[in-house]
Amino acid sequence: MPTYVPYSDEIEVLQPREEEISNEIVESMARINRLMFDKYRHAIRDAHAKSHGILKAELHVYPNLPEPLAQGVFRESRTYPVIVRFSTAPGSIQPDGVGAPQGMALKLVGVEGLKFLPEEADAVTQDFLLVNNPVIPFGTIYQYLDNQKTLEREAKSPEEMQKLIAQAGRTANKVLDALGIQKEIAGVQVKHILGETFFSMAALRYGDYVAKVRATPLSTSVKLLTGEEIDTSNHDSAIRDAVVKFFKKQSAEYEIQVQLCTNLQTMPIEDGSVEWPQQQSPYQPVARLVIPTQEAYSPARRVYADDVLSFNPFHCLPEHRPLGNIMRIRRKAYEVSSQYRHHMNAQPRLEPRSIEDLPD
Ligand code: HEM
Repeated sequence: MPTYVPYSDEIEVLQPREEEISNEIVESMARINRLMFDKYRHAIRDAHAKSHGILKAELHVYPNLPEPLAQGVFRESRTYPVIVRFSTAPGSIQPDGVGAPQGMALKLVGVEGLKFLPEEADAVTQDFLLVNNPVIPFGTIYQYLDNQKTLEREAKSPEEMQKLIAQAGRTANKVLDALGIQKEIAGVQVKHILGETFFSMAALRYGDYVAKVRATPLSTSVKLLTGEEIDTSNHDSAIRDAVVKFFKKQSAEYEIQVQLCTNLQTMPIEDGSVEWPQQQSPYQPVARLVIPTQEAYSPARRVYADDVLSFNPFHCLPEHRPLGNIMRIRRKAYEVSSQYRHHMNAQPRLEPRSIEDLPD
């Protein structure tokens, strides 16, 4: 058996000027969010503002997992109800033709035990936030701040965006990545969100160990969609419509897999842009996420998911706390974003106590 790196509190290393840099990022995000409120007269998320489907699902933890995999919520073979929210990354509502990283947020409900955040200690939820990329390209707070400054310039001055796009032929990937926009503008098609594999991108505690997590298509219904392009021409909500159409008649299964850290040098915690080599430690299956046929985007669901719910990687058991500087900053970033959103939309900030809280 490979030797898995044991979790210890010393595994995280506070970085130089971490608090100051983190505050700069969060303040910049908050300024953009205020601009967005004035644009929409409705508060949206600082990131992943546009939802494409809100689904009721079940997570089935596999039986007989070996000890290193049987940790936290995966400790025993049981079933959790789950709320799933599919999204795209920008903190504004963009037409789907502007390709962007895609998100899958999971909220397990009915998870007992004291939670990591003191203010949510008696919550019964465990969130996993995943994006369709194995790493976060701005994997440290320093790189993230540079990206954030570009985003703020763009938000204040959409004309500057046009200039950047005009230059894109020369510096395409860098500039477009910096804007959280993939190469669609430069001509690449948008992929069907249900065929994608979604990753935690950075590390989290996995009970006695350390891991990255992903969800990958398991049923043929969604495997067939992997790589499929969606026609977004003249259709700003093509992704949502594809999700709604799919779940009218079909169901989906994804496998939850974890990649345990075996070497802190080649699988660093403090830089989320490093892909952990799968030759050293492959992703291993721990659970199956089952999403049945249903109405994926009813008005009541959209309002509940976009305005009432908060997905947050720190909504977790201590056994799954996020790790590393790009994760630590998220504690403040999600709190500030969600506070503002709920305040401006006059909505309660409530964690669901039961899956029945999700409207049909
Ligand atoms: C490291 C890997 C990351 C992943 C996998 C990730 C993923 C996600 C996903 C899937 C959502 C949407 C959740 C939902 O459906 O409600 C989200 C929201 C958000 N993300 Fe991230 N994210 C990451 C890093 C970051 C970082 C570094 C920041 C900021 C510094 C950030 C800031 C936010 C904010 C502010 C929200 C909206 C929170 C709210 O208003 O409720 N994320 N993220």
